[in-house]
Amino acid sequence: MEHSGILIIDVGGQNSQLVARRIREANVYCEIAPFDKLDDQITEKAKGVVVAAPPDPLNTASSYGVIAKQDMKTLVCREPHTAGDEYPELKGFLFNECGCEPTWTMKNFADEMVGEIRKAVGGKKVLCALSGGVDSSVSAVLVHKAIGDHLTCVFVDHGLLRKGEAQQVMEVYGRQFNMKINHVDARKRFLDKLAGVKDPEQKRKIIGAEFISVFEDEAGKIRSEAGEISFLLQGTIYPDVVESGIGKAKLVKSHHNVGGLPENMKLKLLEPLRYLFKDEVRRLGEELGIARELVWRQPFPGPGLGVRCIGEITEAKLEIIRESDAILRSEIEGAGLAKDLWQYFTVLPDIRSVGVRGDARTYDYTVGIRAVTSVDAMSCDWARLPHEVLARVSSRIVSEVEGVNRVVYDITAKPPSTIEWE
Ligand code: XMP
Repeated sequence: MEHSGILIIDVGGQNSQLVARRIREANVYCEIAPFDKLDDQITEKAKGVVVAAPPDPLNTASSYGVIAKQDMKTLVCREPHTAGDEYPELKGFLFNECGCEPTWTMKNFADEMVGEIRKAVGGKKVLCALSGGVDSSVSAVLVHKAIGDHLTCVFVDHGLLRKGEAQQVMEVYGRQFNMKINHVDARKRFLDKLAGVKDPEQKRKIIGAEFISVFEDEAGKIRSEAGEISFLLQGTIYPDVVESGIGKAKLVKSHHNVGGLPENMKLKLLEPLRYLFKDEVRRLGEELGIARELVWRQPFPGPGLGVRCIGEITEAKLEIIRESDAILRSEIEGAGLAKDLWQYFTVLPDIRSVGVRGDARTYDYTVGIRAVTSVDAMSCDWARLPHEVLARVSSRIVSEVEGVNRVVYDITAKPPSTIEWE
């Protein structure tokens, strides 16, 4: 996308993505380039250059040399020493010194990208693995807007989804947005493969491999019915691009590592979100008419409830997780706490303990509640949920979910714990 704007040169500080987000919040487009991969980006893109540098002086002579040669306006942004004091000089630099216009908005992005996608796809067919997660949903709706039924989505129900999730995906994206979605009910296939397996890594591998296998089978069917498919739609976002060290963003790249999707399908990757940060993807989703609660929903791992069901995965145990999780979600959301939490869900440790119900002794499962605050999932703290909310969740779970007689709250930070239990 040829927006002139600001180029951020990353000279090894931690703050390049923070600076980029502040610039984009001012509606000015920017990209990040590592200092050793500047090539022709300065002249091609930039009205000005911001150097994102560590707080303490560092020898950045080599990058300054490149900038000086181009005679560019330069601002050095060091990592802020205190929160809240983030680059007060930035706006003056963007608008006064560099003469940038604040025209980069999600509406403009969507309009331009629709045109770019049409041009790139050129009447060919695109395949998408739609999970219902934010990135795959927003990219599918955007591409559907551009090329309509030239996009076919495959939604694999692996049986490890939350309560009501499969129905919601089909209702929202199939009926409301009128997208062509092949809904594959692979629940039995996954459960059969997972039967008797207890080791967490083994379970993850089986789920990943089975996903690819189901997706390939479905793609084969689509090919034989509808003809050749040329592109695979992928919800890659900008932090993945920056962190993999690729300076220059392209809408289409050749297929090398599809991150969990089939390698041998010989499809080109279509990655319309690879310019966007996560919060921009969410705003784009809203711009495209996706409901707020879907666009701002909490992260949900690819292997789904599989990483929340300790020990062997069975349908009975999954049912306990789905029901208890639905209660937790409704109480947290009803209490208006969701916006303060990074994730909140229930897990099923593989233990049973003694309880009493009426006059009878029970020997039932324990459900764990996990609710955390975090900014990036790299670390987290356990959420100080109000005791009344915890009490209501606990008493509802033991009375409404069969097979549960005890509820515990996970009060561990990451590190040393992780957010998920497996
Ligand atoms: P952990 O458990 O490592 O999780 O602290 C960090 C974040 O990553 C999510 N997560 C996953 N997401 N596939 C995913 O797509 C996975 O296999 C996976 N494992 C963990 C987790 O929900 C949290 O947001």
